Amino acid sequence: MNWETRLTKLLNIKYPIIQGGLAYLAYADLAAAVSNAGGLGQITAMSLQNPDELRREIKRIKQMTDQPFGVNFAIGQHGRPYEDMVHVAVSECVPVISVTGGNPKGVLDIVKDHPIKILVLVAARKQAVKAEALGADAVMVVGQEGGGHLGRNDTGTFVLTPQVVDALKIPVVASGGIVDGRGLMAALALGAEGVEMGTRFIATEECQSAHELYKQALVNADENATVVIKRSLGTPARALKNKWTDHILELEAQQLGYEALKDYINGRANQRYINEGYIEEGFAWAGQGVARINDIPSVHTLIQNMITEAEGIRRKWEDLG
Ligand SMILES: Cc1cc2nc3c(=O)[nH]c(=O)nc-3n(C[C@H](O)[C@H](O)[C@H](O)COP(=O)(O)O)c2cc1C
Repeated sequence: MNWETRLTKLLNIKYPIIQGGLAYLAYADLAAAVSNAGGLGQITAMSLQNPDELRREIKRIKQMTDQPFGVNFAIGQHGRPYEDMVHVAVSECVPVISVTGGNPKGVLDIVKDHPIKILVLVAARKQAVKAEALGADAVMVVGQEGGGHLGRNDTGTFVLTPQVVDALKIPVVASGGIVDGRGLMAALALGAEGVEMGTRFIATEECQSAHELYKQALVNADENATVVIKRSLGTPARALKNKWTDHILELEAQQLGYEALKDYINGRANQRYINEGYIEEGFAWAGQGVARINDIPSVHTLIQNMITEAEGIRRKWEDLG
């Protein structure tokens, strides 16, 4: 079946499936596997130490795939300057750059005269409209179900997606809670022209930097397994519930502010869980979609299963017609 949408044409990919930025998890191995399987894989720039490391990772992915890939910039996090990293991505002529976590104008200004497609990830209609006005080629919109950082107003993917589709002319990508072919078809029915997935791609063979205990926790999790932390700081984000997040929520309930929280929510605490497997001594982002993740397949198998399921639905719908 043909899976062409304006998004697949824009990005020159076979299937309308994007692997979202994944801090400390999405390096060349995972990204190349997604791109080789017909989606768009992305390297997460801001979890690399410096511009040289990013250049090395980009050179590595170019050895691993001849398909388009992206480099993701979560500019609001990590409190680090990102401009040098964006210049590296531009000088390496990467096909796609995605940006989130702050005003994308700085990145768009650096990239605008280059033949690089820009995706902006937002969590609200207003931000989507702004991203289009600033020159984004497509907007990805993440609903409340998603893993990692979310919007402040708790809007779910089912409401946010059609709202943003109706407000924009450029292609919209739905994100948050999507893990399979049913999710893909639902997103297309809502008017999106593709999906972005984060949590689902962590529980794959090629996400090698994710510790086995993290992957197993994703497989074991049900629909009550996630909580939103950091709401008191104005930066809500969804994580797997554990003793560590219980403690964070206690501190937040006492309104103790950033100083009391910072050692519990920093990158080190994140890496202790997700890369090193100390699953009670740190935190791990995950979306509500964990409830429907039951295996750790290869990326190729995951995408093929999604497409097979989605094609089955398309055939059923055609029979209805
Ligand atoms: C572990 C984890 C790390 C993430 N890190 C980033 C990041 O560095 N940059 C980014 O743009 N989004 C990041 N996200 C968000 C994802 O790219 C994606 O938008 C989100 O996971 C979609 O929801 P889903 O998890 O339900 O698929 C992260 C999500 C997770 C689960």
